[in-house]
Amino acid sequence: MNIFEQKESNVRSYCRSFPVVFNQARGAELVTSEGKHYIDFLAGAGTLNYGHNHPVLKQALIDYINKDGITHGLDMYSEAKATFLETFNRLILKPRNMPDYVMQFTGPTGTNAVEAALKLARKVTGRNNVISFTNGFHGCTIGALAVTGNQHHRGAAGVPLTDVSRMPYANYFGSKVDTIAMMDKLLDDPSSGIDKPAAVIVEALQGEGGLNVASTEWMRKLEKLCRKHDMLFIVDDIQAGCGRTGTFFSFEEMGVKPDMITLSKSLSGYGLPFAMLLMRKELDQWTPGEHNGTFRGNNHAFVTAAAAIEHFWSDDTFAKSVRAKGKMIEARMQAIVHRHGPESLFVKGRGMMLGISCPDGETAAAICREAFAHGLVIETSGNHSQVVKCLCALIISEEQITQAMDILDAAFATVLSAKTATQAS
Ligand SMILES: Cc1ncc(COP(=O)(O)O)c(C=O)c1O
Repeated sequence: MNIFEQKESNVRSYCRSFPVVFNQARGAELVTSEGKHYIDFLAGAGTLNYGHNHPVLKQALIDYINKDGITHGLDMYSEAKATFLETFNRLILKPRNMPDYVMQFTGPTGTNAVEAALKLARKVTGRNNVISFTNGFHGCTIGALAVTGNQHHRGAAGVPLTDVSRMPYANYFGSKVDTIAMMDKLLDDPSSGIDKPAAVIVEALQGEGGLNVASTEWMRKLEKLCRKHDMLFIVDDIQAGCGRTGTFFSFEEMGVKPDMITLSKSLSGYGLPFAMLLMRKELDQWTPGEHNGTFRGNNHAFVTAAAAIEHFWSDDTFAKSVRAKGKMIEARMQAIVHRHGPESLFVKGRGMMLGISCPDGETAAAICREAFAHGLVIETSGNHSQVVKCLCALIISEEQITQAMDILDAAFATVLSAKTATQAS
C-alpha cells in the first residue's frame, strides 16, 4: 500500500474509499491480491456496464492484438474504426430512427466529448453563453467544469469559469415550480441578464448530482424551449447511456431528438478510454483538424465497443433484462427504506442507476464503509454526497444482486441503529 501513498499524487480519490489492492476482476466481482472477493456496485464509475472482462469482448481484443492490429489513436482510417462506425450505425442509430447523426471521436475521456460539444455549439451559433443545470456534472477540463455545478471540482479551476448561465434542474424547487417556464421567461426578457445561449447541456438523469430524474414531460418541454429560443439541445449521456437506464440512450423513450449527444464511460464496454460526440450532420461544421488531439479513436476500444454492440444490442433481450434487474434492485431498496427509516430515506433514479438518499453525507459514507467491510464496493453521489448509489454491471446475476442487497440492508441497519443509539445517549 505504501507505494501509492509515497509515489501517487494526493489527487487520488476512489482508492481512499476502498483501501485494498485489486488484482483481478470478472463479471460483477473484484478480487484483491489476497484473494478476497467483492461484489462491484461501482463498475469503474459506470464504465463496465457489460462487466469486467466479458469473455466475448476479451476474445475480440485478444484476436485483434494477436493479429498485430493498429493500436495508435490518430484519426487515420483503420478496419477497427470502420467496423465500429458500421456496427454503431446499424444497431444503434438506424433502429432508433437516427440516421442523420455523425460521429466525432474526441479525446479519450468523457470531458473531451463535452468540450467538443460546447466548442462546436459556440462555433456553429457564434454565441458564448451555454445553459447548464444545478447539480449537473460534465467533467473537469475548463469548459466542461464551467458547466458543472459541483463546488469541490469548480474550486480547483484556478481561473474564472465563464460563459455559462446556471438554471434549476427538474424539481430543483419541488414539483410545484415549473423550471422550464422560469427559463422561458428569463430568455424572453431582454433585460433578464441572460445572454442568448448557444446551447443547453443536460443529463436526462443526473449521475454525480445525486440520481435526480428529469421526467419525459420536462425533457420534452426543454427541447421545445431550445427550439423556441434557437439554442442547441445537448444531452450528456456519458453516465446514463449505453444501457444503464434500460435503453441504449437514457432519453430514448422520451421522444426527444438532441442536436448533440455525448457518450463515453461504457462505450468501449471493456473499461478502455473512449469518448464520442454524436451530432446532427448539418452541425458538423468543423474544418479538418480544427479540434485536434493525438488520441482520437482508441482502436482497441473500437474493437471491444463493436463487439459489445453486436453482442448486447442486436435485439431487445439485454435491455429487457436490465429493466427487470432494475425493478429487482428498486424493490430491495424500497424494502430497505421501509425497514430502516421511511421518514428520512428515499429511493432515487431509474433503470439500473438507482440509489438511496440518506439524511446526510456522513451517514451515506458510513453505510458505504460498512458495506465495503462486508464485501460490497459501493460509492455515494449527490450535492452533499448523501446518496448511496448502485452502479453495478448490467450483466450482474440475480444471486449477486440478492447477496449485495443483503449486505447493503445490513449496513443500513448497523449504521442507522448506531446513530440512533448515539442520539439517545
Ligand atoms: C454525465 C457525465 N458527463 C461527463 C463526465 C466526465 O467524464 P470523465 O470523467 O470521463 O471525463 C462524467 C463523469 O462522471 C459524467 O458523469
